[in-house]
Amino acid sequence: MNRIVTLDEFIIRRQKDFPFASGELTGLLRDIGVAAKIVNREVNKAGLVNILGVADSQNTSGDSVQKLDLYANEILIDCLKNSGECCGIASEENEDFISIPAVETKTSKYVVVFDPLDGSSNIDVNVSVGTIFGIYRRKSDEGGPCELGDFLQSGTALVAAGYVLYGTSTMLVYTTGRGVNGFTLDPSIGEFLLSHRDIQIPKRGNYYSVNQGYYLKFDVEMRRYIDHCSDLNLRLRYIGSMVSDVHRILFQGGIFLYPNTRKYPNGKLRLVYECNPLSYIVEQAGGKSISCQLERIMEVPVEDLHQRVTIAIGSPEMVDEMKHFVHRYSPALSNGN
Ligand code: AHG
Ligand code: MN
Ligand code: MN
Repeated sequence: MNRIVTLDEFIIRRQKDFPFASGELTGLLRDIGVAAKIVNREVNKAGLVNILGVADSQNTSGDSVQKLDLYANEILIDCLKNSGECCGIASEENEDFISIPAVETKTSKYVVVFDPLDGSSNIDVNVSVGTIFGIYRRKSDEGGPCELGDFLQSGTALVAAGYVLYGTSTMLVYTTGRGVNGFTLDPSIGEFLLSHRDIQIPKRGNYYSVNQGYYLKFDVEMRRYIDHCSDLNLRLRYIGSMVSDVHRILFQGGIFLYPNTRKYPNGKLRLVYECNPLSYIVEQAGGKSISCQLERIMEVPVEDLHQRVTIAIGSPEMVDEMKHFVHRYSPALSNGN
């Protein structure tokens, strides 16, 4: 039998990889692990309790909000607040960032960003949802409260990122910039156990993932690239929860696309809460992530907490191929080849 390694044990072991680590980042990752277990418990029993249905509110991006989103949001905020391991939080569900006062004498140098529940329209029909998070080192002075600028950092400044997928089994996948590792929750003992060491995304894959219902709303170069995927007989898979769609691609290879449409001229997905953290993970696993206008996602300047961006993310050779289609067919970028 393989030796069992729990998430906590793994995180602590990895702390030694960072010579000046104070244990704060370790503490933060553990807090997120605890929050994930609580959210998991609620997601699992969502069909049993009266927690389903659309709440009477919209999130700041204008999408309808499910009650479980709010619950997951509160849990994450509470877990992070109480431990005092971070000085600020920005969530997809809150218009503004939340500043966390120092707990006792502890000052913190990190801020956390998250999408508490991604794919929430899937909850009512028992399809996978997830939590996505990113951790940045603050830019403001450690003595005072955090500032907006602490959150408006490009993806290249991420110190850690991860996601939790509440699927047929619950998995936590994270990176601190030294590869990507995956942990599966064993519900019988309530621990995340190391199940996928040093995840590498396949160079190519048989899957493409895009909301093909919007095909006619996409720019010509995206339509040509999607035609190409279909010509290659790639399998179309679209769950409608980015974290689940990207999870499949991380393990099996392929490409996930969310281009601009008429309704979402800058794309629908959020740079801070969804695209940057998932891009960090995919790049760490050997993949690529660019916008449909070909900027590396992690280098896109962050000007607004709720900024949206287009995205093409996944197997490196497939992202390169999509890039080629943009060069070839985009009226804006066409080089005539
Ligand atoms: P959220 O549930 O956090 O609002 O995110 C939903 C997002 C993303 O997970 C998914 O890929 C996308 O919305 C689906 O959008 P469409 O229904 O427009 O395809
Ligand atoms: Mn989301
Ligand atoms: Mn969400």
